[in-house]
Amino acid sequence: MIHRKARGRSGEGCTPSLAGLRAFWLVALAVVLLPACSPQPESGSQGASSAEQAVVADEEAGLFEAPEIDYPEPLAPLGMIDAREQISLNGDWNFIVDPMCGGCLGAPFGSFSENRPGGGMNLVEYDFESAETVRVPGDWNTQQERLFFYRGPAWYYRTFEIDLNDPDTERILLHFGGANFLADVFVNRTLVGRHEGGYVPFSFDITEVLAEGVPEDGKHFVIVRVDNELGDATVPTGRTDWWPYGGLTRDVSLVRLPNAHLRNAKFELLDAGDEGEGASVSVAVTTSGIAQGTAVSIAVDELGIAATATVGTADRATTTFTADLDLWSPDQPRLYDIKLSTPGGDQLTDRVGFRTIETRGHAILLNGKEVTLRGISTHEEPIAETDRDHGVMFERRQARRVLEEAKALGANFVRLAHYPHSRHMAQLADEMGLLLWEEIPVYWNIDWHNPATLAIARDQMARLVERDWNRPSVIIWSFANETPVSPARMRFLEELADTVRERDQTRLLSAALLGDIRKDMETLVPKLAARALLRDDLEPEDRAVYEAVAQAAGDAASADAIITLVVSDPLEELVDVLATNEYYGWYYSVLIAKSLGVSEGSVRRTMLSMMPDMRLTAAANKPLFVSEFGAGATAGTRSKELDIWSEDYQAAVYHAQIAMLEASPQVAGMSPWILKDFHAMLRPLRGIQDYTNRKGLIAPDGQRKLAFDVLREFYTDK
Ligand code: GCU
Repeated sequence: MIHRKARGRSGEGCTPSLAGLRAFWLVALAVVLLPACSPQPESGSQGASSAEQAVVADEEAGLFEAPEIDYPEPLAPLGMIDAREQISLNGDWNFIVDPMCGGCLGAPFGSFSENRPGGGMNLVEYDFESAETVRVPGDWNTQQERLFFYRGPAWYYRTFEIDLNDPDTERILLHFGGANFLADVFVNRTLVGRHEGGYVPFSFDITEVLAEGVPEDGKHFVIVRVDNELGDATVPTGRTDWWPYGGLTRDVSLVRLPNAHLRNAKFELLDAGDEGEGASVSVAVTTSGIAQGTAVSIAVDELGIAATATVGTADRATTTFTADLDLWSPDQPRLYDIKLSTPGGDQLTDRVGFRTIETRGHAILLNGKEVTLRGISTHEEPIAETDRDHGVMFERRQARRVLEEAKALGANFVRLAHYPHSRHMAQLADEMGLLLWEEIPVYWNIDWHNPATLAIARDQMARLVERDWNRPSVIIWSFANETPVSPARMRFLEELADTVRERDQTRLLSAALLGDIRKDMETLVPKLAARALLRDDLEPEDRAVYEAVAQAAGDAASADAIITLVVSDPLEELVDVLATNEYYGWYYSVLIAKSLGVSEGSVRRTMLSMMPDMRLTAAANKPLFVSEFGAGATAGTRSKELDIWSEDYQAAVYHAQIAMLEASPQVAGMSPWILKDFHAMLRPLRGIQDYTNRKGLIAPDGQRKLAFDVLREFYTDK
């Protein structure tokens, strides 16, 4: 039961008697008074009272200058969200695009979040009720043609009803599965908080706001300003090789909770015993509003477990139990139903699996046995694009289709690049028996010196780990992709490694490294020149260059030697698995052709023939994982001459890559780039890419390319 309080509209008494004021005084007065008229964070919701003080009337403020606001922080992730009773807010929301932030806090005549009713003599220049609608969850880019490239702020609005008299409802949380990439959340005109960082869940306690009563027009309403503009200080930055889909891209719901409730729980296999016989498991529970000394019950009926954990300090309760259990693996994805319950009647349920993952030298061991990761990388787009399935995936059936295609490849591993995918992916991978790599978008050139940037990355890492730490399919946390080497980058990534380790000691840490391409080219070029000279299809001018290179290189220019490339990066001390993205057969040919002044075709054809004699190794005595290799192909383009962009050339690169990696003993697995073509603003080539990265094994319409079968044959013959 939530008790109401008498309350007028926020910002009452702000309407100055403007009668007789000339227009420019009107604006000046509005600007001066404005801060007092902006929606006030409600006292009582996570430090909102300090936010009320923090709105500083600044007569120096220019028009549209946002006031300084101390935004209330979201709550720590609510675990096992699917176990919670929720009122879904999915569906059509009213939607206003606001490219110049004309309705943002600080706007001269008030923010859109005030939701001023129009009509009569009231001047309003926006109206949510009559605005267009977009579907939630979902990105806005693919819901309207004119929004495909849009990067900026937009406003979402919808009303909702909730029974505050329900005796079991003492707290109400407004929960978002994710919002790209910044969300300011208002309920009944009150700012309840801000979350920055896409892809991860967050929630706000809106109990007090709702207790203030229903606004004058008779309905509770939620307004969210979402901004998908990215910049140098965001995570990721404004330059990514995937589409910056914006909006409320994941489920939105109201969650009913008792005051005394369970927040999350982590099940951890401490010791597998003898292949699960006599295994020991720890359970760490976080609670809210539950008195110290309270016993939380933990039941795993199929194992005959009925344990208790007593709430101690810091709202935590821990216990361990032993049981004879079946370990989880891709071949035997054994899951157990668990139930947590409190004397007050709160309950959490989940399906968890138990397995071990570790490394030993160059090997990755799953349940103590060496495993080769036969993987594929994927972005979060549906396999076959249709009018219904496009943009960011958010439905379970779409996630299942992606994992089914991975299974069809014969894969046992999927790299969920480059950001947290929806919770459905790991839940389904648990059921279907696939191992996962999960990652946050610390991608390319991040602002390593910026504490605010680090805070976003740490928040994304923490929320991802606390969402999926009970998923046995997740075996690798990755905190970076192709980040340039520097001391500041190391310090930043060490912080992220700590963020993981504070929460989860049981999974492997990795990061896709860029490698030292310059050093690799120095190793390769003399040998490539020697091999090129064996070809009979060289143009005379190319031959002359290769002869000069080979002559200058002397013995290094041997045409039949096995070529060993060594992956090294300062990160190798920090990670458990050394991952590298390498594009032999695709990008490097451009660099070599440019540096030598020879035709790119001669480099490509020589490289393809040379790759089976190349070996990848790593300086560190750790497993080496090839997190990306690939080549682009426009589905349906065929070429006996192996012209690039043809399916034949892409297939040839896969054959050469597989020959190289299969002969590289330190390589413990691979996740080629990428399962399906995906939208990318960096890929404008008209008629071939059309703003789509074509390295997929599957075309946007779901059609498999030749290389799909090349990889499938390699994986299924193993
Ligand atoms: C990089 C990067 C990917 C990108 C890919 C490509 O390695 O990690 O995000 O899409 O190469 O160039 O296609």
